[in-house]
Amino acid sequence: MSTSDQNHPDSRAERDWSPSDWRARPTSQQPVYEEPEALAKAVASLRSLPPLVTSWEIDRLRRQVAEAVEGRRFLLQGGDCAERFDECGSEPIAARLKILLQMSLVLAHGGRRRVIRVGRFAGQYAKPRSASAEIRDGVELPTYRGDNVNAPAFNAADRAADPDRLVEGHARSALTLNFIRALIDGGFADLHHPEYWDLDFASHSPRGGEYQAMVESIGEALRFMESLAGKQVGEMSQVDFFSSHEALLLEYEEALTRQVPHRPGWWNLATHFPWIGLRTADPDGGHVTYCSGIQNPIGVKVGPGMSVEQLVALVDRLDPDREVGRLTLIHRFGRAGIDAGLPAMIDAVARTGSRPLWVCDPMHGNTRTVVPESGPLAGETVKTRSFEDILDELEQAFEIHAACGSALGGVHFELTGENVVECTGGARGLVDADLGREYRSQVDPRLNYEQSLEMAMRIARRMRATSE
Ligand code: PEP
Ligand code: CO
Repeated sequence: MSTSDQNHPDSRAERDWSPSDWRARPTSQQPVYEEPEALAKAVASLRSLPPLVTSWEIDRLRRQVAEAVEGRRFLLQGGDCAERFDECGSEPIAARLKILLQMSLVLAHGGRRRVIRVGRFAGQYAKPRSASAEIRDGVELPTYRGDNVNAPAFNAADRAADPDRLVEGHARSALTLNFIRALIDGGFADLHHPEYWDLDFASHSPRGGEYQAMVESIGEALRFMESLAGKQVGEMSQVDFFSSHEALLLEYEEALTRQVPHRPGWWNLATHFPWIGLRTADPDGGHVTYCSGIQNPIGVKVGPGMSVEQLVALVDRLDPDREVGRLTLIHRFGRAGIDAGLPAMIDAVARTGSRPLWVCDPMHGNTRTVVPESGPLAGETVKTRSFEDILDELEQAFEIHAACGSALGGVHFELTGENVVECTGGARGLVDADLGREYRSQVDPRLNYEQSLEMAMRIARRMRATSE
């Protein structure tokens, strides 16, 4: 590491800030714990446990985000809307890693840039909700807020906020990261051989031949590099994976916020990349106050309902030093809203002098509620998203940034490596009646393995076309 890396602007570290400052601010989306002593005990236990990530990994991510701002990298962030404790197992974790790795190779190939891989994993256990209570048949209970808080079943015991879940969440995050680190150190490099890519869906797509050719050309490019270097790609290019989650439960985030030897400032060592959700992006609120003081790169969701003034205030709070790599703005307007909403945001941020990384989340503005007429979920109200809406928002995002003299520097997906049917569309032409053949998400619908890979190929194709 060079000296300049160690001496990056550290005025944040010198500011008068403490990890508990959020307590003096209005802080939305926090669960109500019935027993304060039990919460205090859980938090004390978290404080004594080892961190999940290190400050040097966080610093590496910050430098990579800065390179993405300069156009030298592209960020891929993806994973579950909410992880589940009972899905902390080898198959879901390996499947998630596999799809993210394959997507990143496709994007690197199309964009001719290195890809920063960030998982929505190893801690994505808490969800903001639009209502704090749910009523069924006249019975009112707290809403499900993610496994770090309560359980989804509709009964008083499961829905009560249980502070021991915070400790359990830390443990499951550690188990997840441990397995991911082991997979990366081990045989995951084999994945780049096309025979491991599941391209069945391509036979349903008019672009099937093109997809096949793309994967073969990635395989060839990797083999060529390997023969030049005399070693396997997995060994020679550090296959970095970073973790991310929404910094929502501030009791948890505070307990994992630490100082480290030889580096100034406070670090959130629960994750590399915390982000602030749209519902908690109040510039004067607890979440922003908390994130303003930590050294990690910070993501913030930007979308409908946020004013230009609010965004500028957020930039001022979170990136007062105008430090490249510090701030990532993740916009999620929806295909119908991006054209009206985004240009003014890009313009206003440019005028602040801050240079954030701009990322598009084409998922959260494109959620629809449908009642399938037939199929496994006939007559039920189901949340879904369509592949075509998601792709359309992304394509608009590339164009709007280019037209505004900015650049789209990354993409953010809710996806799973498994074969669920939660989103419609894609090469197999999934329709509402197919929903629920496998529908496991307790919260938002995710792209499945095939839809995710196809999405990466469509983006790569677009990046390729614009760079040639
Ligand atoms: C999410 O990313 O799961 C989420 C809740 O997003 P947003 O804050 O953009 O609604
Ligand atoms: Co979501």
